[in-house]
Amino acid sequence: MGECGGEHTMNILGIETSCDETSVAVVRDGSDVRSSIIASQADLHAKTGGVVPEVASRQHLEQMNAVIAEGLSVAGAAFQDIDAIAVANRPGLLGALLVGVSAAKALAYALRIPLVGVHHIEAHIYANWLVDPRIEFPVVCLVVSGGHTEIFLVRGHGDYQIIGRTRDDAAGEAFDKSARLLGVPYPGGVLIDKMARELHGNTQAVKLPRARLGADSFDFSFSGLKTAVANAVADPANADVAPQDWAASVQEAIVDVLVEKTIRAATANGARRVLLAGGVAANSRLNERMQAACNAAGLPMTAPPPVYCTDNAAMITCAGYYHLLAGRRDTLELDTLSSERLA
Ligand code: KG4
Ligand code: ZN
Repeated sequence: MGECGGEHTMNILGIETSCDETSVAVVRDGSDVRSSIIASQADLHAKTGGVVPEVASRQHLEQMNAVIAEGLSVAGAAFQDIDAIAVANRPGLLGALLVGVSAAKALAYALRIPLVGVHHIEAHIYANWLVDPRIEFPVVCLVVSGGHTEIFLVRGHGDYQIIGRTRDDAAGEAFDKSARLLGVPYPGGVLIDKMARELHGNTQAVKLPRARLGADSFDFSFSGLKTAVANAVADPANADVAPQDWAASVQEAIVDVLVEKTIRAATANGARRVLLAGGVAANSRLNERMQAACNAAGLPMTAPPPVYCTDNAAMITCAGYYHLLAGRRDTLELDTLSSERLA
């Protein structure tokens, strides 16, 4: 623990390289973000319409040292000011994760400070603790990212139960695959949100299905939506639908079921709060609709600002803080795993 102005503080440097963002953050005491650097590879992967794992790993390698240096310099910190290292070690692209994990091990070894490996999805959930360290349990958290769509019941730190999950595509995939069908470039989700919002798209312009999977189910299915979008695009009756109306209609079909099931899950499980997490939690319409539904149900809601919803190291650092507080440490043998369920 470092000493700063007479008070005990814990400065953690966190690293995230699980997909296509090379990110480093320095966070003091779990929620005071001193720096959060995100070197995105989005432009690089836009050329191929998606992430090519080998290209991502090479790019992480090229960026890693510079991003660490920038993370420290923006925080006004030197290596000696860092008390522990947190790193995303699972799940993700193996080659990409390895770059961050190797850097983390080297730092922990050289500085003789604790190392803790963090589950990427757990970190997405913890982005909410960056916003509000006083969140009271139990909470229901909707995790919506490029590879995940799950409703978690969280009863305490580290205590997760999945009460609903997608049976096929993730919500982020539904956004990105629909975007591709509409001719919207990668990363599609972000642009669909922007088009629908800024150009006031009509949410009812194209009729699209909502898979509810039965009245009691908290599960999701988005593969039918993708097919429906493909059919609707090919239908001459929709030839005159404006791009922003396509965007708004697709977005609404995804957001409708996410909101409905999350609120039902929260109510059924006595949650004291609803949390949003993952890249799709950056979606402005999801935020707006979830907030309105939470207000109607008398439930408070927290969502991280967009920059902490998509992949970033501040969330890794925050989750690492709670692990370290609970006494967890990893050795230099820390593994890198392409897949591992959180619950
Ligand atoms: O969490 P994340 O950054 O990476 C993964 O761990 O997957 O999530 C990326 C996903 C992509 O599918 C992207 O299109 C989606 O989040 N996304 C959005 C928005 N921002 C990112 N989807 C809808 N609206 C957004 N504003
Ligand atoms: Zn993610």
